[in-house]
Amino acid sequence: MQTKLIQIDSANIDRNDIKEAADLIAAGELVAFPTETVYGLGADALSPEASKKIYAAKGRPSDNPLIVHIARFEDLERIAREVPPQARKLADAFWPGPLTMIVWKNDKVPYETTGGMDTVAVRMPNHPVALRLIEESGCLIAAPSANTSGKPSPTEASHVALDMDGRIPMILDGGAVGIGIESTIIDLSEKTPMILRPGYITKEMLEDVLGEEVCIDPGIIASDSMKKPKAPGMKYKHYAPKADLVLVCGETDRVVAEINRLTAQKQREGLRVGVIATDETLGRYRADSVMSIGAREDEDAIARHLYKILREFDDLNVDAIYSESFATPRIGQAIMNRLLKAAGHQVIQI
Ligand code: TXA
Ligand code: MG
Repeated sequence: MQTKLIQIDSANIDRNDIKEAADLIAAGELVAFPTETVYGLGADALSPEASKKIYAAKGRPSDNPLIVHIARFEDLERIAREVPPQARKLADAFWPGPLTMIVWKNDKVPYETTGGMDTVAVRMPNHPVALRLIEESGCLIAAPSANTSGKPSPTEASHVALDMDGRIPMILDGGAVGIGIESTIIDLSEKTPMILRPGYITKEMLEDVLGEEVCIDPGIIASDSMKKPKAPGMKYKHYAPKADLVLVCGETDRVVAEINRLTAQKQREGLRVGVIATDETLGRYRADSVMSIGAREDEDAIARHLYKILREFDDLNVDAIYSESFATPRIGQAIMNRLLKAAGHQVIQI
């Protein structure tokens, strides 16, 4: 299959381009498109056949449910068995935006879209191209991140092209995304709201709006796999670069010294080493490739650059990667959740 890559200006969306993409969705085909978090791989969410194509293109396990993207709040009412009162509050505060809500589904949503579950994940993305695509297609759009299963989520159209070229008919290139890590997922299907995946919208922000306690799925905090995460996708090894990745945590000077010591050790074995540093520490490492993820104080930049850096190391042919850790105040939990998964929970604490 020939994949058409279309540049689309978010501030001035070309009517013919968006129509062509929307017609593909309406015809049950796949289109990759930008959102504010990461690029999504979209298809008609209410068509079992269209959903199946997503799993095939990504090589995704069929028990891993998809997020349904909507453009109006009423669309949630169309697919939920009932809309919990918390959903309305959260939508008022955070939609369109990087928050996915899990609610009980009704019969309109096929099990192909929910990976066999009786609940459905729903999000209204905050990106003009995504919203226009949903509206013009007349569909609700099921969309996982547009990467091959197991790879870091795409934050640029070129990442999508690398993974999906020849597998899907169209990619809409709206430039680099703004946030860079996937949406926060909150489960509203039970009495106490529970975060299944941390993201840009934090527990504190959710609690402020809801005026009640929000818990965090214990399955995503445990480094051992004693407790299964409730979001099926969180159990898979994910975001993984090809090289072995180890996180080094602690006070900066000691982290730099330890990473340099480990680097020298690997290099003596004839291995090539990469380091994920910050603007402040970039010049202090003696590895084969050193990349800055951003300034340590700028957690938005760290989130935005994380997946791109993991992908770049794949092209650099390093055997081992050491990374500083980034438990920053607000979205640090989301950043560390992704990094820990990429590292398969290999952490050195000093
Ligand atoms: O920011 C995002 O959420 C991006 C953009 C494209 O919107 N999408 C995204 O989708 O990250 P995906 O498929 O890569 O991740 C969806 C996660 C998976 O971990 C999946 O298991 C979980 O959501 N999920 C979906 N439906 C669920 C449900 N009904 N119950 C529990 N977890 C669910
Ligand atoms: Mg994904």
